Amino acid sequence: MPIKNRFAEMLPEITEWRRHLHAHPELLYEVHETAAFVADKLRAFGVDEVVEGVGRTGVVGVIRGKGTGSGRAIGLRADMDALPILEATGLDYASTVPGKMHACGHDGHTSMLLGAAKYLAETRNFDGTVVLIFQPAEEGGAGAKAMIEDGLFDRFQVDEVYGIHNAPGVPVGVFATRPGPLQASSDEFEIVVKGKGGHAAEPHRAIDTTLVAAHILIALHTIVSRNVDPLKRVVLTVGTFGTDSGASNIIPDVAKMEGTVRTLDPEYRAIAEARVREVATHTAAAFGAQAEVIWHPGYPVTVNDAEGAVRAADAARAVGRGVIDDADPIMPSEDFSYMLEKKPGAYVFLGNGDSAMCHHPKYVFDDEAIPFGCSFFAELVERRLPTA
Ligand code: NI
Repeated sequence: MPIKNRFAEMLPEITEWRRHLHAHPELLYEVHETAAFVADKLRAFGVDEVVEGVGRTGVVGVIRGKGTGSGRAIGLRADMDALPILEATGLDYASTVPGKMHACGHDGHTSMLLGAAKYLAETRNFDGTVVLIFQPAEEGGAGAKAMIEDGLFDRFQVDEVYGIHNAPGVPVGVFATRPGPLQASSDEFEIVVKGKGGHAAEPHRAIDTTLVAAHILIALHTIVSRNVDPLKRVVLTVGTFGTDSGASNIIPDVAKMEGTVRTLDPEYRAIAEARVREVATHTAAAFGAQAEVIWHPGYPVTVNDAEGAVRAADAARAVGRGVIDDADPIMPSEDFSYMLEKKPGAYVFLGNGDSAMCHHPKYVFDDEAIPFGCSFFAELVERRLPTA
């Protein structure tokens, strides 16, 4: 039976898993019930090895194919965590936990990889090993990094690694990917400006912290326009700005701002950090004030291996309703980037139709996408690990 037909048959069952996970969202590393659900299912499917607690609450499953000659292994990854959002979908299977919601479709990603696991454990039409990677804490907790640091790729041999993220705005069944950078890095910074507080009517006796901070804010926006190659993609945004003053007639002692730098070019992560530090400290110094810059490195650029992207697109073409293989990169970041830093492979987007965007309280994962995601994983395994 063709892969797609098998998953069409399995759709009601996988939809049930997805809606169960949707009703019981968990955050970051606290995905205990989700991880237990995943591990139970993998054992029930007859997966050869199931290891829990990798990277705190990650789960790894290993399936060995019928053929044993290749010695090759392919990693397939899904994320399990939800978001601190109050759900507003009104669905009958909506979140049962106020303030927590699967608003990024990770319930769908986990269910699609479980569906693929069930099929692969049943059929085993491949020569080599499939490593199923279910990670915690994609939403800001670097769960992929935690699994790697806990020996994911030392304990489980993986030659290539692939993952799927749903994509609102792309038709259901249509895949999108590209070779090279697909999603941006995301670093955050804080700048604390210290001047000299005083009376608003006697600025000559003070160092006006608010004014200094304002100059820094304006100057920061010259980094992208003046220090970055116009053909490269870098964005800098200052999201918070304030002082410790409580009144209009006070010159404050301290001002603070926080911002983020995102880029598709790893080289510009370092350049942007250096320039933010220089611009802030030297601008402050010019006014007789001081600026302290605190840098918080976030997720790296998600870079698809050139061949991995082609292989992923080929598998997607075989099972999907179309493939955009030169998709535009996007600036939100993704911690699958850590896995792609270690292993060649690719990340692909799978259309979620005309839904609200990810991280919106009315976002809904489209269950009709499930057979496409499952088929993609299964097709990729059978293509990459062919039996003789
Ligand atoms: Ni997500």
